[in-house]
Amino acid sequence: DKGNHRHFMEKEIYEQPEIISHALGNYIDFAAHTVKKNDTAIDFGKVSGLAIAACGTAYLSGLIGKYWFERYARLPVEIDVASEFRYRELPLSPSQAALFISQSGETADTLASLRYCKDLGLKIGAVVNVRESTIAREADAIFPILAGPEIGVASTKAFTCQLAVLAALAIGAGRARGTVNADDEKAMVKHLAEMPRIMSRVLNDIQPEIEGLSRELSRFKDVLYLGRGTSFPLAMEGALKLKEISYIHAEGYAAGELKHGPIALIDENMPVIVIAPHDRFFEKTVSNMQEVAARGGRIIFITDEKGAAASKLPTMATIALPNVDEIIAPMIFSLPIQLLAYHTAVFMGTDVDQPRNLAKSVTVE
Ligand code: F6R
Repeated sequence: DKGNHRHFMEKEIYEQPEIISHALGNYIDFAAHTVKKNDTAIDFGKVSGLAIAACGTAYLSGLIGKYWFERYARLPVEIDVASEFRYRELPLSPSQAALFISQSGETADTLASLRYCKDLGLKIGAVVNVRESTIAREADAIFPILAGPEIGVASTKAFTCQLAVLAALAIGAGRARGTVNADDEKAMVKHLAEMPRIMSRVLNDIQPEIEGLSRELSRFKDVLYLGRGTSFPLAMEGALKLKEISYIHAEGYAAGELKHGPIALIDENMPVIVIAPHDRFFEKTVSNMQEVAARGGRIIFITDEKGAAASKLPTMATIALPNVDEIIAPMIFSLPIQLLAYHTAVFMGTDVDQPRNLAKSVTVE
């Protein structure tokens, strides 16, 4: 049931604040401002490293998870798309744990990667939505994302719920490893607890602006998404969402890679969407944006209030989100990229919930 929404995708975008709050309740103690004790078979305090494999959007949430596990828990993370991971003959040790992220829990390449790690004696964790799935069944520990059924083929709420779960796991791992102290844990958990309310506000506030912008975006054939730090996987997710439902060709690049190739493409016919919260990377990303502007590129600037005030570059549009802590920024910044893809596709008249050539669950290689 779509409720009063035109598509399941729209419904799933708008239910994120409520769903994510419910999902977080499984991992954090809202009253005590702590991450709940992880009593699964995986002891993040003891493992020597993590391996992560997943496909598509789930891979991109894992990539953001990598930044968190490395930064907050000082745990090295090896991550790859499952279709490569399974054949790489990656040397791994039983002292490491492996996480497999999958909405459906049935993705063939992800399952094969799981079995590869299991054979090498690693403890297996499944970050899944469907708890009765094969990946969940074969894991030692299940970390449910609790997103509820996701009908739209383009993943939205499963992505942000995966991020919420990975953030909680990374903070908990940091506590267990002594790299996150009680004050930092409390501060980060408070930000996570405030996140659903901020998401509701953002969804409400940016909708008209994004809808207008989508009309303009639909005229273009190619789009480049740029970001740095955790905004880099988000840039790839923005590009993936846009291409799969609007069929506009889009690429997501690390902002610093611009001058190593893609800058050759910059002209007035390829808008560049820059994701840049006012974080420790902001100045660097703005200097990449300057390179785009200097070559006549059109910029869509997705930033926060501080970022919008700090940059004087002319843009095609500036979306200024509220200033938020960096631990929740990836979830908050997911909203404009989802809505931008959604409204562009609606405007172009594509089959938003059932994009051509795509299946919700990919059980063959
Ligand atoms: C993109 C999308 C796909 C899936 C991928 C993995 O919007 O939905 O890229 O993320 O096929 O699927 P799961 O998570 O079921 O393993």
